[in-house]
Amino acid sequence: MTREKINVFDYAKEITASLRKGALLNTNGDKFNSMVIGWGHLGVIWGKETFAVYVRENRYTKAQLDKTGEFSLNIPLGKADPGIARICGSQSGHNIDKAKEAGLTLIPAETIDTPVIESKAYPLVLECRVLYQQKQDISLLPENMQKAMYPQDVDGTCPMANRDAHTAYIGEIVSAYILKDEA
Ligand SMILES: Cc1cc2nc3c(=O)[nH]c(=O)nc-3n(C[C@H](O)[C@H](O)[C@H](O)COP(=O)(O)O)c2cc1C
Repeated sequence: MTREKINVFDYAKEITASLRKGALLNTNGDKFNSMVIGWGHLGVIWGKETFAVYVRENRYTKAQLDKTGEFSLNIPLGKADPGIARICGSQSGHNIDKAKEAGLTLIPAETIDTPVIESKAYPLVLECRVLYQQKQDISLLPENMQKAMYPQDVDGTCPMANRDAHTAYIGEIVSAYILKDEA
């Protein structure tokens, strides 16, 4: 497996489109964990190339991000892998070892301590260090969005919990590449 370095903005379309399929947000606090994300932003702030992720309060991923301040992303370029997507998007690291359950092959990252997944379905990798994090203030959203996205009638510990705010984590992209089979 080789890492073909990329300019992330050359892949802005693919990276943005991947959010509709579900990209993988990987963290490595007490153990490796990966969760599916559908929200995110590629851009520039403070002169840095960044990717922002939005993580709800009760996710195992949130505790890991708060512990390590870094994450990697595996981005699908074709179709997402349904088996990986199901486990990483509906099961929690609070209860299972997702690397084991989803049969993930992990390899070391280039610049951070969070491994990346070696997978033909998710070959584009971003390695990120958190520059800034901020819990969103739900009351600042238009009222119809508050009701739609954060109804307060489901307990925060339920699997489908949706009352909790998201925290935005803005990660500086410290390495970006596509994993390719060696020729
Ligand atoms: C298509 C899709 C997109 C998702 N996007 C997000 C997201 O952007 N932010 C978030 O907090 N949860 C999102 N989720 C939910 C998490 O992936 C899910 O709750 C996961 O089980 C959390 O894992 P964890 O507890 O191990 O962190 C999404 C789920 C799916 C299926």
